[in-house]
Amino acid sequence: MSGPQAENGQSLLIGRTIDHLATPAFVVDLDVVKANCERMLARAQKGGLHLRGQTKTHKTVEGAIYQTGGTRRGLVTSTLVESEMYANAGFDDILYGYPILSTHMQRNLKLAQKLESYHLMVTNKESIQILLANPPPPGKKWSVFMKIDCGNSREGFWWSDQDCIEAALEIRKYPAVMTLQGTYVHCGNTYKSQDSNQVEKTRDETIKMLIGVSKRMSEHGIKFDNIGIGSTPSCSHDSALYAQISEIHPGNYVFYDAQQEKLGSCGMGDVAGKVLTRVIGHSVRRNQLLVDCGFSALTKQGFQELDQSFARVEGHPMLKLCDMTQEIGKVGWDLDDSINFDDFPVGSTLSLIPYHACATAAMYPVYYVHQNQMIKEEWRPCRGW
Ligand SMILES: Cc1ncc(COP(=O)(O)O)c(C=O)c1O
Repeated sequence: MSGPQAENGQSLLIGRTIDHLATPAFVVDLDVVKANCERMLARAQKGGLHLRGQTKTHKTVEGAIYQTGGTRRGLVTSTLVESEMYANAGFDDILYGYPILSTHMQRNLKLAQKLESYHLMVTNKESIQILLANPPPPGKKWSVFMKIDCGNSREGFWWSDQDCIEAALEIRKYPAVMTLQGTYVHCGNTYKSQDSNQVEKTRDETIKMLIGVSKRMSEHGIKFDNIGIGSTPSCSHDSALYAQISEIHPGNYVFYDAQQEKLGSCGMGDVAGKVLTRVIGHSVRRNQLLVDCGFSALTKQGFQELDQSFARVEGHPMLKLCDMTQEIGKVGWDLDDSINFDDFPVGSTLSLIPYHACATAAMYPVYYVHQNQMIKEEWRPCRGW
């Protein structure tokens, strides 16, 4: 569902200020998105790295154009629907960064046919068997990245296990079917850090582990072009060790969020995606405002991490989103005295800074993209898998 439209299909909201939006609404500051994307591209360039932006946070064509600096080359996706949307929009060099399943192979085949450069992620030895059972398009090979686990404890080959080398040797056995593009580590364990020092320590240890994997592979004569890491926390700071890798693949940085601010990845001013909500009532007895942002407009993440609040309330550090039902949020006051309800009349708006932008953005079929509060564009993310 989108906002009201004129007969020519043009949104009636373009050119109006965001306070005209029906709420809850996901609003995106275009200048902040551009600055976030330019900064990450500049960091990659300074470190001599290729930026392969992850698209799962926004899942839009527009966001990926900014991530690639307009080249439309070099992305990681988290769903096949994303891969298909970007392939149809003229993007190439796309890595479908998800474990390989037999049920995905028909769609992977079409993508490999269509694109000059489409890559898959080998996360276990079964992935290789699936590729062997599904021949690549005529004249092409499956191009694969090997997912390495350096402490993230999700999918992938544990970096120091012999399995890791054996899988690479197995891939090399079938040169007509598949080719090893590189190694890939998400480095999502940086999210467990308390501050940016810890983030940087984890990132640098991860790079060293990844270099160790490359050395062991090269002792077996296994060669590949790419060594990459990324998560947004691990790629939001420079590192002297970048010289030893070739790629980074962060994604959240396009919008950033309150979690990233806590980790030291960004400042609050770098958060581009926010939820606009309206006051729908006052509970004087409970000293709470009621707002039209329930968990279906935000998610229920981050309560402990944001000191008993599901989001930061922009410009009002004493307000806390302390409870939510599906469609209603309860905003309390972090002081002993009473809220001045006259400051927050029914119908007035509050801006919520989400704890986790990827999860919150996923709740919305359209993002209202504004410059200085003026709505300029509507971005329609892809949905589904
Ligand atoms: C495989 C993979 N690569 C890259 C990313 C990007 O990390 P972030 O969301 O921290 O930017 C993710 C995020 O979950 C991921 O799963």
